[in-house]
Amino acid sequence: MTTASALTRLLKPVVPLTEQMTIVDVADRLLTAEHKAFLSLPIVDAAGKPLGLVSRTTVQDIFMQRFGRDLRGRHPVREVMNATPLIVSLQTSLEEAARQITGQLQYPITEDFILVDSQGRYCGLGTVLDLLKAMEARIAQRNQVLRKALVDLKESQAQLVQSEKMASLGQMVAGVAHELNTPLGYVNNNVQLLRELSAPLLQLAEAQAALADCLADPGCDEASLASALEHAAHVREAAAPELLAEDLTQLFDDTLYGLQQIAELVVGLKDFARLDRVMSEEVDLNECIRSALLIARNAIKDKAEVALQLGELPRIPCAPSQINQVLLNLLNNAAQAIEGRGHILLKSWAEDDAVCISLQDSGCGMPAEVLARIFDPFFTTKPVGQGTGLGLSISYKIIQDHGGQIRAASELGRGTRFLIRLPRPLALPLQRSA
Ligand SMILES: Nc1ncnc2c1ncn2[C@@H]1O[C@H](COP(=O)(O)OP(=O)(O)OP(=O)(O)O)[C@@H](O)[C@H]1O
Ligand SMILES: [Mg+2]
Repeated sequence: MTTASALTRLLKPVVPLTEQMTIVDVADRLLTAEHKAFLSLPIVDAAGKPLGLVSRTTVQDIFMQRFGRDLRGRHPVREVMNATPLIVSLQTSLEEAARQITGQLQYPITEDFILVDSQGRYCGLGTVLDLLKAMEARIAQRNQVLRKALVDLKESQAQLVQSEKMASLGQMVAGVAHELNTPLGYVNNNVQLLRELSAPLLQLAEAQAALADCLADPGCDEASLASALEHAAHVREAAAPELLAEDLTQLFDDTLYGLQQIAELVVGLKDFARLDRVMSEEVDLNECIRSALLIARNAIKDKAEVALQLGELPRIPCAPSQINQVLLNLLNNAAQAIEGRGHILLKSWAEDDAVCISLQDSGCGMPAEVLARIFDPFFTTKPVGQGTGLGLSISYKIIQDHGGQIRAASELGRGTRFLIRLPRPLALPLQRSA
């Protein structure tokens, strides 16, 4: 349905009057059943161009006057017409027609409007009531479309949040896999080395056991004993246990350190990704900072020295995995903003009504017009494929859902600082002694 046909459907093909007709003619016409519903009748010239409208109330007024019919009834209708009627082209959209008509209508509504074709020739009359009904129907239809769009939008927002979660989980898993790989690699090497180094020791133990057996056996002859002794001495020389001791201790220490690192990462991962039981879990945000740092270590280690100034914090109710996600987003952004090598300073402190975290980087910073948009969904300055532009908008939502605030300040070429404030439950007032 085109917009032009919407107005066409409102068109009533009322036969127009000519300007020579009299007021009585109009009155007679207005009384016919066909024209009862109209507030006015159109007048056109010989070429079919509208000249005006005669309103029912004007004609009624004349007829109600004393001798009105006799005095003015024979006058041409042109005398009483409204020469500036509302004229709307059939090409006009319904909305535009409504705008034009409501913009020009004088209260009370006493006239209809004239519909013309593209050449400006009279086509028919429209009533304001029909127009309002058509608008109402259209608005109801739009509302329905909007309602559906809102539902779709909410759904896709939920999906986006979910996919951003999956993306940061993927990023995190990739980081952790990389982190696990290093200690795993050298634990593996060390164990292989230990196996190689311990082979001659096993041979030595075997040779010495054979020698001991020989010594303890009364039936063992001189020749066998001499051969066992010689073999033991030979194997001992080859194994050189006194030289091995230091290497073995070092290898065991390194292996244990590697295993410890692996265990730490696994614990970190468990902490990071733990399903939040309830939002009211009491959490020490410093633990979240450490956990996020552990996970982001891979992304940061070649980019920045991290300095920590963590104050003592009261535990606050929050969803720790979400806060971890925010911190991971901020740490990744900071690492990505640093060219070459730089610094990241993480601070935490408690205020009367809030717990605060600040994360400052010595990265590229941002101009004011970028800073103004960083929390907008899909806003990114990173090349296609490198940033979705969702990290900060999701972080903003998470902090907002916690009743907190996240703000950023930045100076181009010098760095950026993010500040997070999360509300802390009011401390109980101290009891005063009487
Ligand atoms: N620490 C920072 N230093 C400089 N610019 C930053 C910093 N953090 C964010 N920005 C700017 O804000 C934009 C939006 O950040 P956001 O984390 O929302 O998305 P992204 O990092 O581009 O993509 P994604 O996080 O989805 O991978 C970035 O593209 C960048 O221009
Ligand atoms: Mg980001």
